[in-house]
Amino acid sequence: MTNAEQQAVAILVPGQFNDHAVGRIDRTFSRVWIERADPSLVSDDMRKAVRGIAAFGGISAALIDALPHLEIIANFGVGYDSVDARHAAQRGIMVTNTPDVLTEEVADTALGLLINTVRDLPRAETWLRDGSWMRHGNYHLSRLTLRGRRAGIFGMGRIGRAIARRLEAFGLPIAYHNRHQVEDLPYEYHGTLKGLAEAVDTLISVAPGGASTEKAVNAEILSALGPNGVFINIGRGSTVDEAALAAALANGTIAAAGLDVFADEPNVPPALLAAPNTSLLPHVGSASEHTRRAMADLCVDNLVSWFSERKALTPVPETADVKARA
Ligand code: DGY
Repeated sequence: MTNAEQQAVAILVPGQFNDHAVGRIDRTFSRVWIERADPSLVSDDMRKAVRGIAAFGGISAALIDALPHLEIIANFGVGYDSVDARHAAQRGIMVTNTPDVLTEEVADTALGLLINTVRDLPRAETWLRDGSWMRHGNYHLSRLTLRGRRAGIFGMGRIGRAIARRLEAFGLPIAYHNRHQVEDLPYEYHGTLKGLAEAVDTLISVAPGGASTEKAVNAEILSALGPNGVFINIGRGSTVDEAALAAALANGTIAAAGLDVFADEPNVPPALLAAPNTSLLPHVGSASEHTRRAMADLCVDNLVSWFSERKALTPVPETADVKARA
């Protein structure tokens, strides 16, 4: 494909998107914009022209079906639970994601969130900023500590391992639950999430979203974690029964929770907002300029590779066998 031919390839970019990615798409392809990933917004011209999508999730089967010439969906993010990748695979459409480039950033955020949650640092900072330190004296001692904790990781992929490496440096014993035991890991493996929750007091979820993990962290798991339990979620909000979590935090079933992700973002359940024992972040796991730029590059590199070399750089497993049409 010549540069001029590539420039004519229409890439649909629904909604708000990373500026660096948009700049590169504009320089390389022909960008088509709609306000949100809604098939009813697809015009006849778009139906005829669009061959690729670059998106921050949210690509339904209906949108895929509205674009008969679609070849590739380049997802901005490692998690692609909101892209119907199975449907894409059935239609012979490639789906790519952005693994590796965000691993260390998300692991850093997980540790920050864990410490914030256990040591109550955000509220301690508010105490300083609002003048309480001067007016009322020292902030109270934190009820919880990382010392003596046993960490359990739910989802031992790349990010889970990066979190485990950091926890090792913090001196915490580590166990994990994953669909399969990971061969070369020295950490204790639990075949069930309940078994893991019973064995630890600090549960960190890095599990992907989707049907197999839907509300996996429920009342039973939280009860197994116990009254000194801390739950951290840096994976997907859909993996948690948020009503059960709010109840567990309110009635002392567990001690505290730190959450970067929610089931219906950006809506955060009022009970979690009001709870004095939560530390909450607006899904910022990978959200540094540095890492988002690397994710943007990988997202666009996948499009470039697909249309110039006819192969994807980082296909998701569901579409690993999808071949470019001649
Ligand atoms: C991901 O990559 O899935 C993250 O959640 C986006 O920040």
